[in-house]
Amino acid sequence: MAVIVLSNREPYAPRTGPDGRVHWTASIGGLTTALDPVMQREGGTWIAWAETHPELRTVHLPEARPRYRVERLPLAEDDVRLFYHGFANGALWPMSHYFLERAQYRREEWDAYRRVNETFAQAALDCAQDGDVFWVHDYQLALVPGLIRRARPEARIGFFWHIPWPAQDVFRTLPWDRELLEGLLGADLIGMHTAAYTRHFLEACARTLGAETDVGTVRVGARTVRVEARPIGIDVATFETLASSPVTAERAQRLRDNLRTLMLLCVDRLDYTKGIPERLAAFGTFLERHPAARGRVTLVQVAVPSRERAPAYRHLRTQVEGLVGRINGQFSRDGWTPVHYIYRGLDREELVAHYRAADAMLVTPLRDGLNLVAKEFAASSQDGVLLLSRFAGAVDELPGAIEVNPYDVDGLSATLMRALRMPLEEKKARLAQMRQALRRHDLRAWTADFLRDLAGVAALPGPLVQL
Ligand code: ADP
Ligand code: G6P
Repeated sequence: MAVIVLSNREPYAPRTGPDGRVHWTASIGGLTTALDPVMQREGGTWIAWAETHPELRTVHLPEARPRYRVERLPLAEDDVRLFYHGFANGALWPMSHYFLERAQYRREEWDAYRRVNETFAQAALDCAQDGDVFWVHDYQLALVPGLIRRARPEARIGFFWHIPWPAQDVFRTLPWDRELLEGLLGADLIGMHTAAYTRHFLEACARTLGAETDVGTVRVGARTVRVEARPIGIDVATFETLASSPVTAERAQRLRDNLRTLMLLCVDRLDYTKGIPERLAAFGTFLERHPAARGRVTLVQVAVPSRERAPAYRHLRTQVEGLVGRINGQFSRDGWTPVHYIYRGLDREELVAHYRAADAMLVTPLRDGLNLVAKEFAASSQDGVLLLSRFAGAVDELPGAIEVNPYDVDGLSATLMRALRMPLEEKKARLAQMRQALRRHDLRAWTADFLRDLAGVAALPGPLVQL
């Protein structure tokens, strides 16, 4: 049995270097960060969009130590605009994150979404051998399970929805709510990050489709689709080992020496769901309220560029840069700059050195399916505090974090002071508690459980009926 993974984003993106050769750089984002190690272990095929270099169709990755094959699908320029920027990121992304005022539902974009989903499904069918398992990922490809099921009624199909599944009153604003659900229900097993998301999903199936549902299952003709909360884990051991290496310790020390102040760390894709302006505003309030903190605390914001062609994301960048400038203009003094803003991705070693150097990590999305950054920090830090939004899926699993409301600028500013004053023993106890939880459900277990349960599905007796 081989695994065929499908996702819109590819794990590594090709870039032509100054030497004229193509180099493959790891894509940044929760989905690819989680699945690349899975595929490095399992092998198999990964089907994804070829955003650049469309001439490279089949590649073996990672470059240095190939473990799996990537089938790259070029998309027409119009489809990129209508499917990716349009329906996926202009309708489904904001709707699922409760930003209804940003969601735009356009027929032409929905048509492109269907078309591109068909392209992905066909590519998977073309390369599948008997017994292969299909594992489809995320909101860009919700129709793929139904399309594969129609062509291969007996196929084993898993789906993982990486973002929030919103409350039914939000979901039913979508004009194609039925079609989206029917597409997803082509899968045998649907995973989501939290119990609340699966409850919302089951409610949608019951109310929108009139389907028969039970705890964790939906009946679709003669088939039973399992819908379960299975939050993605991280590779805890890798983060722990990297974080405790002498090289990382030295890098972290250098970061601290350069700052010469306490360090608040924020690491995000530059996305409006992440609550970056609200967080910066809270830091501004904190500096206003606590003059003694001026010159003693620095906020380091690492923001990796994301979806830069979309006006909403360009606007966010301008807004964030304006706020950074305003806070720095107002409070900088004697060589101290309150906000250090890094507009790029960090490589894994740099990232972990930052996690280790931080006195507190601020993960304050307005809404987030899970948030891997919070887990990575909890696995890497030795003496830091995690402030975590109540609207991030990961909050269910990280009781050692201090839960915050990202909309409450005053509350956030007060919690910052509490975090910075927390005694070392309490910080260590909280980290130990989180590490224990992370180890119990790490990435290896997540993958093994999902694939085992998916393989088991086929053993169930009874006819399989297509949608
Ligand atoms: P999302 O899926 O919305 O991107 P997550 O927090 O779940 O959010 O996952 C983001 C992943 O990308 C994490 O593995 C994190 O380490 C990585 N990442 C995010 N921002 C950066 C950055 N500025 N530099 C390096 N890695 C980043
Ligand atoms: C989130 C989504 C992923 C997506 C990633 C990066 O993690 O759940 O599906 O790949 O963001 O976004 P991008 O639009 O660059 O793929």
